[in-house]
Amino acid sequence: MNNFLSIYNLDHNLIQSFIKSAAETKNSKSDDDLNFANGKILASIFEKPSTRTRLSFDVAMRKLGGQCIIIDQNELHLGNNKESITDTAKTLSQYVDIVMYRSQSHESLQKLASFSKVPIINGLSDFSHPCQAMADLLTIYEKKSGFEGIKVNWIGPITNVARSWIEIANLNLGIKLKIFSNDYSISEYHKKCEIYKIKPDLDNMEVHNNLKKLDSADVVITDTWESMGETVNEKIIKNFSSYTVNQEMMRIFGDECIFMHCLPANRGQEVTPEVIDGPQSVIWDEAQNRLHIQKEIIKWCL
Ligand code: CP
Ligand code: NVA
Repeated sequence: MNNFLSIYNLDHNLIQSFIKSAAETKNSKSDDDLNFANGKILASIFEKPSTRTRLSFDVAMRKLGGQCIIIDQNELHLGNNKESITDTAKTLSQYVDIVMYRSQSHESLQKLASFSKVPIINGLSDFSHPCQAMADLLTIYEKKSGFEGIKVNWIGPITNVARSWIEIANLNLGIKLKIFSNDYSISEYHKKCEIYKIKPDLDNMEVHNNLKKLDSADVVITDTWESMGETVNEKIIKNFSSYTVNQEMMRIFGDECIFMHCLPANRGQEVTPEVIDGPQSVIWDEAQNRLHIQKEIIKWCL
């Protein structure tokens, strides 16, 4: 069964074929996949808010001819010790063909997948956000015509999106990832890996806590400093103050460098409005690509 839980469960060739197929389908006028999911139902479960993931999965499923049921956690017995994840997984498997789950904890996602008889998609957990990272890859593929030799700089906290990017960097697609973060966030990364029994893997990339090491790049990515469900105090925010992506940094990266952000963004904190709304920003292509990549993910799972 094809679960889409993490990038590191996938291989180089599969990722390449996802991206190529998404790019082709996006640009094709053909409606070949119009009936792909005919008669199939996707359940999307949300334990955290969402705009892009919620809408793009719903629209993707409909465009493939299927149907979608969207459920917020407070509408289920799941959580608050009312019904276990095991019983929820077994129940869902009786009714729907595929489940997309935005979970508070990666452990719940892993459990749901291990007890479910239908494929499970990670729609963001506290550990990773593989659907977002795949849409980011599609955006880079379109803007930079491939991955070989592409220099990607991640600036700021090592969030769920960053962890999916670390997994991408380990796939040998030719992308060179540099992470610029502070010591607190790097040690938190190691702690999270320990909690979810995932091997920390920063060997294939450069990790810096010194912004003086910034130099030219093809892509710069950042994310909110306060991820959903996290308590980030003033001290942490202050320690990140020099990590705001601004025009000065963009000059170092160069005119050809594109700026990416998964959204929602906190303008003025992790990025200045001039950069996120400026000519080098590709955030709206990235948001649109969520739809095209979700279609590929659903097709693979089904
Ligand atoms: N990028 C992303 O996952 O956005 P939502 O939280 O709106 O789904
Ligand atoms: N790191 C962010 C990503 C939002 C799509 C969060 O988890 O809130």
